[in-house]
Amino acid sequence: MNLKPLPAERTVIVTGAASERGIGRGVAQRLAGAGWSVGIVDLHAEAVDSGARELAEATGATIAGAAADVSDERAVDAALSSLEAELPPVTALVNLAGISDPTPFLESTLAQWERVMRINATGTYVTCRRVAPGMVERGLGRIVNFSSTAAQTGGGNYSKSAYAASKNAIEGLTRSIARELAPHGVTANVIAPASIDTDIMGGRITEERLPQFVGALPVGRLGTVPEVAALVELLVGSEGGFMTGATINLNGGLRIG
Ligand SMILES: NC(=O)c1ccc[n+]([C@@H]2O[C@H](COP(=O)([O-])OP(=O)(O)OC[C@H]3O[C@@H](n4cnc5c(N)ncnc54)[C@H](O)[C@@H]3O)[C@@H](O)[C@H]2O)c1
Repeated sequence: MNLKPLPAERTVIVTGAASERGIGRGVAQRLAGAGWSVGIVDLHAEAVDSGARELAEATGATIAGAAADVSDERAVDAALSSLEAELPPVTALVNLAGISDPTPFLESTLAQWERVMRINATGTYVTCRRVAPGMVERGLGRIVNFSSTAAQTGGGNYSKSAYAASKNAIEGLTRSIARELAPHGVTANVIAPASIDTDIMGGRITEERLPQFVGALPVGRLGTVPEVAALVELLVGSEGGFMTGATINLNGGLRIG
């Protein structure tokens, strides 16, 4: 059976792509270089506009941006409607908008719990729910959501219970989407990274902070944004159609098995 080729004109929506050193920006750049038009969604209009401009200049690809809080269903609907009007059909969605929280469980509050769950778990639900019907209609779609090694290990160096719970929710949601939408040509997978060199863990991982993160990693170094982006490119590509419902560890050996 032949693989279904991706359409020549296709769009990936990348949430959380405004952060200059973030994974979302790296994913947007990599896919823009691989023939995708890119729609970026992030919180603040100014950062979204400058991010879209910089990506377009760097890649020559068609890039559009729209600001939205991913946990706000109406804002996401408006952002996606404006991106859909400007760009080719949405073939892929990569959910990278997210926050971490270092509060230990016994010091945590319900407000902190709800904030993390709302942005990470509900935000992922809202964007998937908005984008998936179009994919089903066109019989082709690729969804990549992000968990974390912290979901499997009971929190990490920086991110504790609410973060771990939100990422487990994302894994469960993604498996359900994968099962229900596979017959419609839509795949849904999770990448679970550990310690990628970005600013989400309380700002830059300086030389001083490095041992705290690298000490636990068998490979002896942080992961990099291009390494994550390369895996995303595989998952959203025409040869990504047989993998669905998977959680792929990208963790330098932090958790094996
Ligand atoms: N960096 C790591 O080591 C690591 C490890 C495991 C998982 N992850 C996951 O990867 C994803 C990206 O992380 P990153 O390291 O690039 O972090 P980052 O902080 O650089 O990027 C996160 C982006 O999400 C955006 N964002 C936050 N709340 C939002 C909201 N409500 N609506 C829209 N956008 C919002 C931020 O503005 C930012 O641009 C997150 O889901 C994170 O949990 C990262």
